[in-house]
Amino acid sequence: MRRALLAVVLVVAGCTSGGPAPAPSPSTPSAPPSPAASGRFQPGAAGAGDPYYPTYGNGGYDVASYQLRLRYDPAGNRLTATATIVATATADLSRFNLDLAGLTVQSVTVDGTRAASARDGNELMITPARGLAKGTRFTVQVAYGGRPGPVNPRLGAGGFLHDDGEAVALGQPESASSWFPVNDHPSDKATYTVEVTVPEGVSAISNGVLAGRSTADGWTTWRWEERAPMASYLATLAVGEYRVITGEHNDGKPVVTAVDSSLPAGGPADRAMARTTEIADFLATQFGPYPFDAYGGIVVDDTRVNYALETQSRPVYGPSFFLGPGDATWVVAHELAHQWFGDSVSVQRWQDLWLNEGFASYAEWLWAEHESGYPVEQAFLDEYERSGDEVWQVPPGDPGVENLFSRSVYKRGAMTLHVLRKTLGDDAFFRMLKEWPAQKRNGNATTAEFIAFAEQIAGTSLRSLFDAWLYQKSKPPLPQ
Ligand code: ARG
Ligand code: ZN
Repeated sequence: MRRALLAVVLVVAGCTSGGPAPAPSPSTPSAPPSPAASGRFQPGAAGAGDPYYPTYGNGGYDVASYQLRLRYDPAGNRLTATATIVATATADLSRFNLDLAGLTVQSVTVDGTRAASARDGNELMITPARGLAKGTRFTVQVAYGGRPGPVNPRLGAGGFLHDDGEAVALGQPESASSWFPVNDHPSDKATYTVEVTVPEGVSAISNGVLAGRSTADGWTTWRWEERAPMASYLATLAVGEYRVITGEHNDGKPVVTAVDSSLPAGGPADRAMARTTEIADFLATQFGPYPFDAYGGIVVDDTRVNYALETQSRPVYGPSFFLGPGDATWVVAHELAHQWFGDSVSVQRWQDLWLNEGFASYAEWLWAEHESGYPVEQAFLDEYERSGDEVWQVPPGDPGVENLFSRSVYKRGAMTLHVLRKTLGDDAFFRMLKEWPAQKRNGNATTAEFIAFAEQIAGTSLRSLFDAWLYQKSKPPLPQ
């Protein structure tokens, strides 16, 4: 049945099946014809269906891997690149979209055959020569390049940030589409290989394991592999002059930290990065085994980055955390806690971000108690007393797009966990802290799933607890 339909589609499409694949040529500027859009083959959705960000990501396929080959000159902010994406159709597709912001597409192939493509805002629409039946694994190759730039300035600096001969790509809730074509939504996690060629002497740091580095003709290629599935906003690339320190942790996993050379050598940033594995080890005693193949961190010297981000296995920290004399280990504890909560267990939709930020904020309290004896119970009470309307009027379980990164999502999220701890008791709570990331490892989760999981551990309904702490626009009373 499927074969017969496909044959009809191929005839309609006038496809060059059987002949040699035509050489890639410039894409058509206008919307491509959709020869395969007949019968059951239909275009994939232009969004992944996220209620908060309907245009983010795309429908109709599931990416398994990205292989990015980039040549980047940080002096002129010039990128020349090829992205090879292996995906599986989850519907009968006549065409599908990738997200790509700015940049110019030179050619697109699907399974080695030239595909038509067109741009509409941040959507790259690809029409393969033949329809892709549901369940089919296919390979998309996009040759592209140009001068990458920021995305989504409304939510703070994000995207590809170039300045003064250096660049860093990061940002949440999206950033990846500023430097490669991508299904830019955390519900579609994939593995990554990032091969970056930069002028000799310049560092190029990305996620995961450094699988090779070689120099020829004054250019150095750094090959990075992130072998665990990763949400697209967790992909990063930092290019510039860095103090790169590579080592091996006592579990045999590589450690790579990079601090921008313009920051003082031996200063607070270097000292904080040097404590990365110590802090990760402490968190492992609370959350279970560290979930990834590599450790590390990147401290950039770009003041537009006024935050830190939990980029997988190698968080990026803005310079402001390390201006004072202290070691600012709280932010390292926060970003490393995200490796379990956010990176290994990722949100299925952005509304549930408290599952990331509530746990990472709670980890700050656990770390402070461990490091300086400041009790978690006291941190909770302080936060409860100091919080005002900006926390109690914003329900962290449904904060709205405007308040997605608000204090409530972080701190009321953490307070929710502490109230859960008081309800479950320490034994069950700390068992839960390990079992949740174990059960959801390398996956996605929703708040509803977390509540069901907590109730299973409690052996009773926790509806009124979660309703009061996650969903009401009022200050809940302290538990008795
Ligand atoms: N997830 C990051 C953290 O809490 C924060 C990112 C802030 N995002 C932004 N667009 N400013 O570690
Ligand atoms: Zn966070």
